[in-house]
Amino acid sequence: MVLERDQDIPSSHIPVVDLSNPDQELVARAVVKASEEWGVFQVVNHGIPTKVIQRLQNVGRQFFELSEEEKNAVAKPDDSREGYARRYELDLERKTGTVDQLFHNIWPPSSVNYKYWPKNPLDYREANEEYTKHVKMLSEKIMEWLSEGLGLWGEAIKEVISGEYMMIVNYYPPCPHSDLIEGLDPHTDVSGLTLILPNEIPGLQVFKDDHWFDLENIPSAVIVIIGDQIQRLSNGRYKSVLHKTTVDKERTRMSWPVLVRPTNDTVVGPFLEITGHDDPPKFKPIAYKDYIPQGPSLILR
Ligand code: SIN
Ligand code: FE2
Repeated sequence: MVLERDQDIPSSHIPVVDLSNPDQELVARAVVKASEEWGVFQVVNHGIPTKVIQRLQNVGRQFFELSEEEKNAVAKPDDSREGYARRYELDLERKTGTVDQLFHNIWPPSSVNYKYWPKNPLDYREANEEYTKHVKMLSEKIMEWLSEGLGLWGEAIKEVISGEYMMIVNYYPPCPHSDLIEGLDPHTDVSGLTLILPNEIPGLQVFKDDHWFDLENIPSAVIVIIGDQIQRLSNGRYKSVLHKTTVDKERTRMSWPVLVRPTNDTVVGPFLEITGHDDPPKFKPIAYKDYIPQGPSLILR
């Protein structure tokens, strides 16, 4: 597969689905089609209040604007998935820019460790708890449409995939060499489903039909990415999309992906109901913790 940079590919092809359309069957079909053809789409009028989004983004930005010492109050230990860490340093040879990240589980309560949630700003926790309620509802609706799109009952995908929800905050400082470097390397998401809120600086790109496409910035939209586990469950019908990010020359880019993923011991393989003579299983069932991605991937389980 060619992973070269591509110039000026229009972004307008990436599906945008208006969830407030009264014809909910049409909405469901659009979500299913986008997941089959692209593995990525944006949703607008999704029911998450703009105030809730702005508050989440404000507290995240305030945290990243603290000194390194203050941010290290929630530093990520080597043996933990959670906490604050620098993922990449600027490295022109490797073509990576600086990327800082904060990870913490947000759902279910038994998986949440507040040790990794910033205490500064003071309303970090409240803002994240409020957003969690909404993003969980939105993800469940999307999983229901995707399950029904496979001819299964509405909870089928959710039952396997939604063991844990993890919040990631990505911080990409401006970089004068932005034309030479990437933010995050090309990867698919190892998890099930990812719902991303970007700030106003574009930078997410997805790969389809040998081209990189830019995601158009739509204020308050949520970007939905199909991950490896939904691709496996659906026997390849829904596509786990390859994506990467760029950084801006002058402005700080930030994004808030929430990963929806199975618990470690959950065995994930194609639903038996959708495989058979006509469509033999393309993937072997395997416990999530033992899953090894086929292609380029950032291991963010
Ligand atoms: C990612 O989660 O792969 C990147 C999201 C983004 O920065 O837009
Ligand atoms: Fe990703």
